[in-house]
Amino acid sequence: DKGDYEHYMLKEIHDQPTSIEDTFRGRISMDHSKIFLGGILDVLPKLINARRIIIVACGTSWHAGLVGEYLLEEYAKIPVEVEYASEFRYRKPIIYPDDVVIAISQSGETADTLAAIRLVRKLSDATILGICNVAGSSIARETDAGVYTHAGIEIGVASTKAFTAQITVLTMMAFLIGHRKKLIPDSDYLELVNALTEIPDKMREIIKNEGFIKDVANQYTDVTNALYMGRGLLYPVALEGALKLKEISYIHAEGYPAAEMKHGPIALIDENMPVFVLAVKDDSYDKIVSNIQEVKARNGKIVAIVTQGEKTIKKMANHVIEIPACHRSLAPLLAVVPLQIISYQIAVKRGCNVDQPRNLAKSVTVE
Ligand code: M6R
Repeated sequence: DKGDYEHYMLKEIHDQPTSIEDTFRGRISMDHSKIFLGGILDVLPKLINARRIIIVACGTSWHAGLVGEYLLEEYAKIPVEVEYASEFRYRKPIIYPDDVVIAISQSGETADTLAAIRLVRKLSDATILGICNVAGSSIARETDAGVYTHAGIEIGVASTKAFTAQITVLTMMAFLIGHRKKLIPDSDYLELVNALTEIPDKMREIIKNEGFIKDVANQYTDVTNALYMGRGLLYPVALEGALKLKEISYIHAEGYPAAEMKHGPIALIDENMPVFVLAVKDDSYDKIVSNIQEVKARNGKIVAIVTQGEKTIKKMANHVIEIPACHRSLAPLLAVVPLQIISYQIAVKRGCNVDQPRNLAKSVTVE
């Protein structure tokens, strides 16, 4: 039921602070000193000793996988490969018995992702895990173990709350494995878990600012192209922002790691090109500021997602949308929200069928 909301997508964007709390529920101790993921408890030794993690997924779930790659490599110190399930299943992949394969899927029914895990099963003894939203789905049933995202049923074809729930699970996994491997000291662990539990309220703040975000979106309803850029953990968010715009508003959009712009895409920039830049205060802030300068020098229109209190970028960008400060590793959870709202508002203004965009199905159960 979409209640008072005009569309399921809008409801699901608004659901996110609560759906993330549902993802945490029963998995973080009251004092924030422990993470408990019951579904993978038995395979935790396999994860701790994993030689490599291979993530297989499609679409938005693949973007969540990319965020997971950064987090698992940094905190759990395990090499990670993120694969499009559709490509992986037709390669001759090399899989070692001490690899752990993680299939990420909202529906748990995506044909390519299911085929990818079946291939792993045929080729090796590797442990196969699932991160699914739909309980009892095919992928959930065919994996050795897994963690449900508990985001609640997602109806809008454009995935929103499933994405943030997938990232929440991957974040908990990375922190948990890192702590078990003694790579994260107790005090840092407490700080990280604490920071994670603060995310829902920070998301609520972003959603409260929806009216302003809508006004920004309304300036870009007639564009034919858009670029999205970010660095590090926010690079996958740029990809996700572009996918959201393409699928529901039918505007051509591409996401790039900001530094790749000068290897080609910057040639596209003129006064008609909006560039959505993820420019929060983190380790790559100075670099992203220079990337913004490069776009500005070519008269591109800049919409920057920045940390509250930002001054420098405010002077350079056409619009800035502020998000609350958070731990740098958690920024994807917050930064994606304004991009979801922008896509939604643009699509509504263009009269598109937001919940059921043309040519798309909620779950892609055929090749
Ligand atoms: O159910 P899944 O997570 O396996 O679905 C994967 C993709 O089909 C899905 O994320 C798709 O890209 C969405 N329409 C994105 O909004």
